[in-house]
Amino acid sequence: MKIKVWDLPTRLFHWSLVGAYIAALFTSRNESFLEYHVLAGYFIAGCVIFRTLWGFVGNRYARFSSFIKGFGEVRSFLSRLLRLRLPRYIGHNPAVGWMVLVILGITTAITVTGIVTYGGEENRGVFAGLFPFGMGMAARTAHIWLTYCIVAVVAGHVSAALIHDFVLKENIILSMITGAKEDDESWHERVDHLRPEEGHSAAKLAVYLIVVLLGAFAAIYLPPEGRSDPASIRQPRVVDDKGFATRLVVNNAWHAECADCHDAFHPTLLPAASWKKIMAVLGDHFGDTVSLDESKRREIETFLVSASAEHSTTEASKKLLYSLDGAADAPIRITDVPYWKDKHSNIREDVFKRESVSSRSNCSACHPWAEAGSYEDRDISIPQ
Ligand code: HEC
Ligand code: HEC
Repeated sequence: MKIKVWDLPTRLFHWSLVGAYIAALFTSRNESFLEYHVLAGYFIAGCVIFRTLWGFVGNRYARFSSFIKGFGEVRSFLSRLLRLRLPRYIGHNPAVGWMVLVILGITTAITVTGIVTYGGEENRGVFAGLFPFGMGMAARTAHIWLTYCIVAVVAGHVSAALIHDFVLKENIILSMITGAKEDDESWHERVDHLRPEEGHSAAKLAVYLIVVLLGAFAAIYLPPEGRSDPASIRQPRVVDDKGFATRLVVNNAWHAECADCHDAFHPTLLPAASWKKIMAVLGDHFGDTVSLDESKRREIETFLVSASAEHSTTEASKKLLYSLDGAADAPIRITDVPYWKDKHSNIREDVFKRESVSSRSNCSACHPWAEAGSYEDRDISIPQ
């Protein structure tokens, strides 16, 4: 016989929360989806408020009082879980009861830190300007770590659901859709002869755990990344002569003198020998004259050499050096490096001639973060 367990509001809450979390996850990687991300966040906040209230007025199985159990009961449940001899519960079991509270608690913290980030760091939303910028930044860090926590909890929850369904044959996933469960009698009748051996279950349990953990990692890493968030663009790491890698510190003289007529070409884009060559003949610099006093010239050269492709840890530096392997002469143009030519061979000449681009050397026309040494494919946009 079927009994009605999960009322419609509880089921709607459950799947709305799942959908909204998925939407929030997919809109989290890309600054241009921020508004949709925030919308999903407000929706999630609404779900939490609803479920909290419903925990007092919902049907018998939805009320907190029916499934929040004391420590003793949780412990005895968990110890039976380890022995894979679980009693069947019609509503939430003692472990999942607490998990409901944990999910509601973490989700509340995620929405609050999200609202503070949006108001403090972005200066947007209902609470725009209410929180200082530094607080917004701290909230963003907390927001991210809390989402890792929720992914971990959800991974545990989904593993448990799979085990209930496929090891213990309880059909609980379907019940979250239809709302109905079998009563104890018909359940025993159906499954008693199906329930597997203990050892067997432990192996299956391990398999389900692995599957779900992989799924959780995929959830974190697979959503499209979108364009780089300007706030997270950082200079690449460079390795000094002693072999220590540190973040490149931009030299002011370099940026003041070499960004006058064109982009400040990133030091990691040419080998040291090329920079030395360029810095040696500034009087005839591609037909132009760059005038620098000797101490400035030396300071800039030292900087360029200290962060040249050989010292850089970026993919572009490694590949361009590799493509130069065996070349007798160090090129004085980045655009003459075989790797560069290869990467840009599909771009028609007239694209480089466009007014918005004007030259091959105008890297930042298509790579917005060129001056930070970042040429990620996802950030490239060729202007019209
Ligand atoms: C007075 C203007 C001027 C200044 C200042 C200047 N450059 Fe240039 N630079 C040019 C011109 C013009 C070109 C050729 C651009 C082209 O072909 O589109 C060029 C090209 C380059 C290129 C080759 C780009 C390519 O096509 O791969 C490099 C590298 C370069 N400059 C480095 C520097 C460095 C380092 C400094 C600072 C010490 C500097 N430039 C300062 C005018 C200047
Ligand atoms: C007209 C637009 C345009 C200009 C100007 C341009 N690039 Fe690119 N660049 C591209 C495109 C498009 C790609 C992607 C090519 C591909 O992957 O097929 C690319 C790829 C790259 C890559 C490889 C990135 C990766 O992860 O695969 C590097 C490095 C790079 N460009 C550096 C530069 C530098 C340095 C300059 C300036 C000297 C420059 N580009 C100028 C359009 C441009």
